[in-house]
Amino acid sequence: MSAVRTYRWQSPSNIALVKYWGKKGIQLPANASISFTLDTCHTDTKLTAKLSEGNPQLNVHVNGQLKESFKPKIEQFIERASVRYPVLSHLDLDLETSNTFPHSSGIASSASGMSALALCLCSYLRDSDLLQGEFMQEASILARLGSGSACRSVYGDLAVWGEHKDVVRSSDEYAVPFTDFHEVFSDYRDTILLVHKGTKSVSSTVGHGLLEGHPFAEKRFELAEANMSSLLIALNSGDLDRFIEIVEDEALMLHAMMMTSSPSFILMEPGTVAIIKKIREFREQNAIPVAFTLDAGANVHVLYPAKFEEQVLNFVDKELVSYCEGGSYLCDTVGKGPRELTC
Ligand code: DP6
Repeated sequence: MSAVRTYRWQSPSNIALVKYWGKKGIQLPANASISFTLDTCHTDTKLTAKLSEGNPQLNVHVNGQLKESFKPKIEQFIERASVRYPVLSHLDLDLETSNTFPHSSGIASSASGMSALALCLCSYLRDSDLLQGEFMQEASILARLGSGSACRSVYGDLAVWGEHKDVVRSSDEYAVPFTDFHEVFSDYRDTILLVHKGTKSVSSTVGHGLLEGHPFAEKRFELAEANMSSLLIALNSGDLDRFIEIVEDEALMLHAMMMTSSPSFILMEPGTVAIIKKIREFREQNAIPVAFTLDAGANVHVLYPAKFEEQVLNFVDKELVSYCEGGSYLCDTVGKGPRELTC
């Protein structure tokens, strides 16, 4: 009988400032991206693993309920990860996972979920003396194979994924922490306005595929590269005007790419556009450096320095909450990254 081992990791979601949109090869990004690691929005995953004596079994429980529908994505992930670590395709795996944010909230759980699972697997590999490199780097490589953006979630504060001339040791295979940032960003706030809680009309995998043959793809990759360079400077110096300009440009360009792809997708809802306009008005009238960003959906992430929290939350409650489904929003902040928990 082989040893049964159990591990538990809590891993956060992240929000991209320069977006990963388009991939090549096996989960390699078409351009470099950078994100804030979040804190409150995270996944807690407990993994029990043992060498299988027959056909490897996979059981997935989400919030205590057996979830057959989550298995194909995890099976695909294990298959990809076992190219690097063959033992992974010979394990019986029991996964118990829960998110702090509701599954149906429209917040992608793949970044936190896949990074939490990758970290659990790395703990197993470490204890089996099979880990091929530094723990977090290996976790980032595996997380990437599950979901591209997940590879950035293994580091706190800010993380860069994808080779970029201005980031030493940056790689397409894993994320690296970006530590050269001004202190204003260390506790930056992200208030997530839930404009549409349902599942997205385009999965990110389909979305990335839309860049193939897209008439603006090459220009997009060039602009992302340039936006990375400019954003790194703004993050380093604490230049909030420039930060806002680049972050909003990235959000709108992501949606512009979706609107001009074939088939095309409009993922913003009327409420998304109304919120964006109100944020810009509020910023001009009050000289408060608040910015918006979007992921591949209708929800709006409102980004601002911690010291403006009270004013911004008042503004959200007075002017923006009416555009949120059921008046829902989540308050998050830049976080310190994953934590290993006792089982
Ligand atoms: C718009 O990482 O979810 O959020 O690699 O196919 O799992 P897969 O895609 P995913 O794409 C994220 C896209 C994005 C931008 C970003 O997070 O950089």
